[in-house]
Amino acid sequence: MSLKNWDNKTWLSSTDYIKAFNNFLIRQIKLDKNSSILDIGCGRGKIIGNLSSKLRLNKMPLGIDIEKHKDRDKRIVFTKLNALKFLKNNKKEFDLILLKQTIHFFEYKEIKKLIFLCMKSLKNKGKLIIFTLETKRNEIPAFSLMKDRLKKSLRRDQKIIEFLSNSYPGNIKKKFSYKVKISKKKYIKMIKDRYISTLLNFRQGEILEGIEEIRKKYKEKIYFNDKLICLILKK
Ligand SMILES: C[S@@+](CC[C@H](N)C(=O)[O-])C[C@H]1O[C@@H](n2cnc3c(N)ncnc32)[C@H](O)[C@@H]1O
Repeated sequence: MSLKNWDNKTWLSSTDYIKAFNNFLIRQIKLDKNSSILDIGCGRGKIIGNLSSKLRLNKMPLGIDIEKHKDRDKRIVFTKLNALKFLKNNKKEFDLILLKQTIHFFEYKEIKKLIFLCMKSLKNKGKLIIFTLETKRNEIPAFSLMKDRLKKSLRRDQKIIEFLSNSYPGNIKKKFSYKVKISKKKYIKMIKDRYISTLLNFRQGEILEGIEEIRKKYKEKIYFNDKLICLILKK
């Protein structure tokens, strides 16, 4: 099952979130209208679409994803391809390669290859910026089974981050946090839509039980911080 509803009208595609995220991003890397940008696992491409407008980019940014959304951003050049396949044949060089909440989809072996190929596709002073969910004090609202699976996948993410930090000395680690306020009704819809990859393999019955748990556990408005680790690798 693939991830179709991640940024489907959720806080992750809201103007406010994208603005906050891009403001954070441009504090980490010097970009201007001549920058070339690649987003791997871009989803609907709204983040780099917004970045393109903000920086008035001369060249449209490139977005790669295995999922082709009909409502993807028009300000990007989109290619539907597996990231590894794309990078293996890629001849272009980028100032920024963004890998946001996508690395956990790859096997360990593939990650080594993926990062190696990303680094190869960077310009001289280019940067690869990787975002993953905060692994320690994560606040994503979850029912018990979802929490268990999330914990497991966060432990794996932690290992990936440690591996990359050790393999690429001179890297920088930062945190990005966004205050989310969402109605319980909307969050339940997101769970039903399996917005996060943790939910992709759940049986329908488990999702329904989980929703009942969320209904009882949370008030009408849910508040939490969506926290990300940001790992910056320089060429
Ligand atoms: C959690 S979403 C993140 C989307 C976007 N980066 C964001 O943060 O809003 C992960 C995305 O990675 C894509 N993806 C997963 N495996 C991929 C692969 N092998 N190559 C390219 N994209 C992939 C999924 O289709 C999905 O759109």
